[in-house]
Amino acid sequence: MSAAAEMKRITTATLLKLKAAGKKISMLTAYDFSFAKLIDESGIDVILVGDSASNVMAGHETTLPITLDHMIYHASSVVRGAKRCLIVVDMPFGSYQSNGDIALASAIRIMKETGAHAIKMEGGEEILDSVKRIISAGIPVMAHLGLTPQSIYKFGSYNVRAKEEAEANKLKSDAQVMQDAGCFALVLEKIPARLAKEVSENLQIPTIGIGAGKYCDGQVLVMHDMLGINTEFKPRFLRQYLNISEQVTIAVKQYIDDVKSGGFPTDAESY
Ligand code: KIV
Repeated sequence: MSAAAEMKRITTATLLKLKAAGKKISMLTAYDFSFAKLIDESGIDVILVGDSASNVMAGHETTLPITLDHMIYHASSVVRGAKRCLIVVDMPFGSYQSNGDIALASAIRIMKETGAHAIKMEGGEEILDSVKRIISAGIPVMAHLGLTPQSIYKFGSYNVRAKEEAEANKLKSDAQVMQDAGCFALVLEKIPARLAKEVSENLQIPTIGIGAGKYCDGQVLVMHDMLGINTEFKPRFLRQYLNISEQVTIAVKQYIDDVKSGGFPTDAESY
């Protein structure tokens, strides 16, 4: 493959083609230039600049405190690092729930000030007007149903959602509504695998699961969780591929010892 072909940008249309061809979609979060570059160069399909930055970058308990300005800062850093994958940015809590004008203005700011390719919004029927206005403005929208962390105080816990029939039926209807509105993909978070299977089979647009089982058209994980940067979070759905925190601790302790003992720097490391 030529370098030009290799550098071809993944688009929302690519994701639809992957689903149609029965090929899975890989998505990971990133929030800064350096990790975005590493993840992109590893061959990921989609980087999500998640509002989970509120937790893993800023140390907040929930995703609610992160602002539109913070998301724009993280997303523009990611855009400078990732040259090949599709970059989707979360609309933070408060930037779209009040009305369609505010939602559209927030989405336009993200697209204009970051250079990202799409936005993601949590919710179903209740945010439909805003979703339609944003899509009408030419901005691709990824929907997000199931456990939607911006509503944590309504749910009261991070437990699996839509186990009961009424909530499962609402989720199925919302998924269809979001597809009909023109969303290009749908994140399904922490719902039973059989429900995610049914939704994935009924939609033309790809579903991307987190804690939603193997039948989704793709998977997403939070980078800090899968790399073992954050080792306290161990839900059943998480596969930890690395234990970076252990390696960082060993390296930092060694550095401290070297500095304290006078072993660093040596003459060879001096000018
Ligand atoms: O903010 C985030 O990281 C997300 C993923 C968990 C889907 O929304």
